[in-house]
Amino acid sequence: MIAKPPLRLAIAGLGTVGAGVVGLLQRNAELLALRGGRRLVLGAVSARDRRRDRGTDLSAVRWFNDAAALAADPEIDVVVELIGGADGIARRVVETALDHGKPVVTANKALMAHHGAELARRAEAKGVALAFEAAVAGGIPIVKALREGLAANAVTRLYGILNGTSNYILTTMRESGREFGAVLAEAQKLGYAEADPSFDIDGVDAAHKLAILTSLAFGCEIDFAGVHVEGIRHISALDIEFAAELGYRIKLLGIARFTDRGIEQRVHACMVPRATPIAHVEGVFNAIVAEGDFSGRVLLEGRGAGAGPTASAVVADLLDIAAGRHVAPFGVPAGALRARPPAAMLHHQGACYIRLMVVDRPGVIADITAALRDEQVSLESMIQRGRAPGEAVPVVLTTHVTEEAAMRRALDRISRLDTVLEPPRMIRIEDL
Ligand SMILES: NC(=O)c1ccc[n+]([C@@H]2O[C@H](COP(=O)([O-])OP(=O)(O)OC[C@H]3O[C@@H](n4cnc5c(N)ncnc54)[C@H](OP(=O)(O)O)[C@@H]3O)[C@@H](O)[C@H]2O)c1
Repeated sequence: MIAKPPLRLAIAGLGTVGAGVVGLLQRNAELLALRGGRRLVLGAVSARDRRRDRGTDLSAVRWFNDAAALAADPEIDVVVELIGGADGIARRVVETALDHGKPVVTANKALMAHHGAELARRAEAKGVALAFEAAVAGGIPIVKALREGLAANAVTRLYGILNGTSNYILTTMRESGREFGAVLAEAQKLGYAEADPSFDIDGVDAAHKLAILTSLAFGCEIDFAGVHVEGIRHISALDIEFAAELGYRIKLLGIARFTDRGIEQRVHACMVPRATPIAHVEGVFNAIVAEGDFSGRVLLEGRGAGAGPTASAVVADLLDIAAGRHVAPFGVPAGALRARPPAAMLHHQGACYIRLMVVDRPGVIADITAALRDEQVSLESMIQRGRAPGEAVPVVLTTHVTEEAAMRRALDRISRLDTVLEPPRMIRIEDL
């Protein structure tokens, strides 16, 4: 018997995720009513184009041309924001709903990364939920895991593959031996990459998610500007081949660490040892590892995007609201989220892979190793394949743990040698 009145939902945005949520609400209605203790009923929707086919009959649901008006509607209990974008209408929808005392569920990582702490304060002031499981890694319940399942731990480090498009491209490059541009074009054709793929391949999307996770893991203010961000455009088939030869795979990782210099947040391509679980997370899959002081290492893997997985996360948040389970959005009162200084990337310590294209001529290697020695960068290994006197050949070096600033100074000197033909390629080797 379900005695409680139904929970009346409004959905702003009926695109990939919005349509997925509508489909899930219909298909699993009985299950959801049991788990939430009440029915979830779609009361109102908003999108741009009313005539567009949403794959389901919405004629009985009230339609709003103005999504902000929908968020203020007195006949709605919960607002689900699935429009996207850090500002503009999406932000207005969320703020309006919170200010009217309505709980909000959103999948919007850009909005949360830029305004999450402020929105959490508004939600707290009204005593309502602000839930955003779907904003990070789609179907993987990492927000709940960090905020609740691992709540007893001090998290020391967190890292993961947070962008399925980049992981698909890197995986396909490795499997096919093709170059980045060709694989990206194919990914766009298959619908795995957007027409404008820059947010995904330049690391911005992963950085949004990392900034949110960092706040959850370390109880600090979200600091998106403090994330060091690099993408994967510079990764070549040759680097992937050398990585394999050295026992690594190349992954775009988001990494957050609590250090005595501040919070380190970085998104960049990494060489990860082939034996680590994260090296085997392939294609469009995402995975996150959280290291807790009592739990030890926890790994969650799954689909990080798409209608089904993202709808799964949105509706799980709705069930919490339906059942009256309410925790602070970031696990601690919004007022307790501390602003912590970002740890400067120049002081980051790590080993590196360096690939140079050099003229095969006597003395070249001596000049390169002298530049490294002068900056106190210590070499671990070197690969120089074959000989082609007078021609361009790749030389690959790996270093011991080095400070980033010294590494960059050394690379700057090396790039000025007249025997070095292209800017050096540097990929950090991650100790996982
Ligand atoms: N796609 C994923 O796999 C995924 C995964 C995790 C998180 N997310 C996040 O989920 C959110 C939605 O993503 P999506 O992929 O579903 O986007 P999408 O397919 O582009 O859908 C966006 C929806 O918003 C509607 N919209 C745009 N401007 C509007 C306005 N002014 N008023 C009302 N509605 C408006 C659009 O209406 P029309 O349909 O009429 O154009 C469309 O239905 C984003 O924040 C995204 O980052 C997406």
